Amino acid sequence: MELSTDYLGLKLKNPIVASSSPLTWELDSVLALQDSGAAAIIMPSMFEEQIKQEQEQMERFIHQQSLGHSEVESYHPGLMDYEEYLDKYTRRLHLLKTELDIPVIASLNGITDGGWVEYANELQQAGADALELNVYYIASNPEESSSSVEQRYIDVLTAVLKQTQIPVCIKLSSQFSSIIPLVKKLQQNGASGVSLFNRFFQPDIDLDTLNVVPSLKLSDSSSALLRIRWVAMLRQHIAMSLVITGGMHNAQDVLKGLLAGADVTCMCSALLENGPEHISQTLQQMIQWMEEKEYRSVEQLKGSLSYAKAINPSAFERANYLEILDSYSYAAGVMV
Ligand SMILES: Cc1cc2nc3c(=O)[nH]c(=O)nc-3n(C[C@H](O)[C@H](O)[C@H](O)COP(=O)(O)O)c2cc1C
Repeated sequence: MELSTDYLGLKLKNPIVASSSPLTWELDSVLALQDSGAAAIIMPSMFEEQIKQEQEQMERFIHQQSLGHSEVESYHPGLMDYEEYLDKYTRRLHLLKTELDIPVIASLNGITDGGWVEYANELQQAGADALELNVYYIASNPEESSSSVEQRYIDVLTAVLKQTQIPVCIKLSSQFSSIIPLVKKLQQNGASGVSLFNRFFQPDIDLDTLNVVPSLKLSDSSSALLRIRWVAMLRQHIAMSLVITGGMHNAQDVLKGLLAGADVTCMCSALLENGPEHISQTLQQMIQWMEEKEYRSVEQLKGSLSYAKAINPSAFERANYLEILDSYSYAAGVMV
C-alpha cells in the first residue's frame, strides 16, 4: 500500500503526524513515535512569553544582587551560565534532528511582532524542517473588528516569511466567521499549509471555590467532524497542505479526514491516552480498510469525498438541517 503524502512541501511516508504535546519533547518518546510509524513530529510550542519572563527574572535577579553586594558578585553565575529557555529549545530541536530520520517541525507561539520573527529565525537556524505558527489569540477586545483580527494572522505570516526560507504552516482556530477566504488569503501570502483547528482550552468555573480555573481535557473522535467538514469545503479552493488536528483517534477518523481532503492528520490526545504504539495499530487498520475497498494509495483516497467530489455535497452545508432535526427520537421513557 502506498501511504506517502505531501506535507508543506515535504514528502512523508504516511499521513500520520504526532502533533505538539509533551510526547514530542523527550527523546525516548519521540523515538518511540518514530518506531511506531509517525511520519513527522511537531515539537511543543516555544512560547515567547516564557522567554520574556525568564529575561525579566534574570535582569531583576542581577540588578538586585548588584545593589550593595558587590563583594559577592563574583560568586554569582554569569548570565550565560543559565540554560535559557530559548537555548534549551533550540538545543532540543538540534538533538531531535540528529537522532531522527523523520522531519521535525518546530512550533512557535509569539506575542510581539519582533518576537515572531526573531524566534522563527532561531528555529530555522537550529534545523527545523518546517515551522508551525501556533497563533493562540482570543479576540477579547470589544473595539477590534473581525477583519483586523484576521489581518493579524496575515501580518504574522508575512513578517515570519520575510526572515525564513523553510515552509510555514498556520495553526488556526475554528472561530472565524469566514474561514475559506481567510485560508485563501494565507495561501496567497505564502503559507505552505494550514492546520485545522487549534483547540483553545476552555476555562471552567469551580462552584466550590467560585474561582475560574484552567481546564485541559483530551479530545475524542467527536471533535473530528468539525475539521472534516471544513477540510471538505476548503479542498477545491486550496492547493497548499490541509492538515487536520483535533479528534483524530483511530483509523476511521484518519480515513475520513483523508477522504474529505486532508493531506495529513495530526494525533495528540489519542497518543497521550494510548501511547506512541497507537500509531502502528492505526496504520495497520487503515491499510486493512484500504485493501478491502481496493484503494491502492493515500493519494487516490485524498479528497475523494470532498465537497467538490462527494455525491451529496450539500450534506456538508445546511441542506439536511431540517431532516436531521426531524430524525431525532426521544430516549426510551422520555415523552411517551
Ligand atoms: C498536553 C497537551 C499539550 C499541548 N501542547 C501544545 C503546544 O505546545 N503547541 C500547540 O500548538 N498545541 C499543543 N497542544 C494541542 C495539540 O497539539 C493538538 O493540536 C490538539 O490537542 C488537538 O488534537 P487532539 O484532538 O488529537 O488532541 C497540546 C495538547 C495537549 C493535550
